Amino acid sequence: MEIFVVPDAAATGTVAAGILAAVVRSKPDAVLGVATGGSPLPVYAALARHRLDMSGVRAFALDEYVGLPSGHPQSYAEVVRREVTERLGLDPARVSVPDGGALDPQQAAADYDAAISRAGGIDVQLLGIGHNGHIAFNEPGSALDSRTRVENLADRTREANARYFASPEDVPAQCITQGLGTIMEARHLLLVAHGADKADILAAALQGCLTADCPASVLQRHPHVTVVADEAAAANLRPGGVVAVRVEDTAVGV
Ligand code: F6R
Repeated sequence: MEIFVVPDAAATGTVAAGILAAVVRSKPDAVLGVATGGSPLPVYAALARHRLDMSGVRAFALDEYVGLPSGHPQSYAEVVRREVTERLGLDPARVSVPDGGALDPQQAAADYDAAISRAGGIDVQLLGIGHNGHIAFNEPGSALDSRTRVENLADRTREANARYFASPEDVPAQCITQGLGTIMEARHLLLVAHGADKADILAAALQGCLTADCPASVLQRHPHVTVVADEAAAANLRPGGVVAVRVEDTAVGV
């Protein structure tokens, strides 16, 4: 695992976008795994500045709420359309989000898992981390080999995501999420984190025990993980293996 520590949130975006851009340049038909929430927004902003030809890129989102009406601005289908597909110039037909409005969400989840496999698997999966250690919406207790499925959102996750909704009760109680086993099949995992509120959980996930109580700790088992954190989020990491970088020292800044 390589851990890059950069000064601030904008720099997490610059460094992570540089990694993604290198993947797309070397493989124009790359399959990207994309995350929603606040953590990846600086990444998409920085990646847009690379002005890459993204026409051959395929993308799969990590998760989606169950039960939001089609076109709801906070559905991840809409967030991905705004922040990823339009911003980066992807072909909408090559961008997939789990179908949270399906009559049979369990079947939709299984179909989604199969679609990722059919696409040849994910080359690089962008991830954020929740305050309780979730990645995608794999809440604490998720099986480390779980597949894409319907899950209940933890109260803490619904509280954190209430900032995007008119009231906390409007946050859906369920989601479809890629499983931890599904995520672990991606060839490269790229975790981004910024802000002091992520410091405790980032240290627990990367340098604590590997346990289902902290789902992100499963990353410790993956052969190719890159973490890009700002100084605030990295504050509790032990120094071993942590590389402080200045953006201007990396080959990836734009
Ligand atoms: C989003 C997702 C979640 C978020 C996590 C952190 O697709 O899968 O795991 O990455 O909840 O959210 P932020 O970045 O808003 O702190």
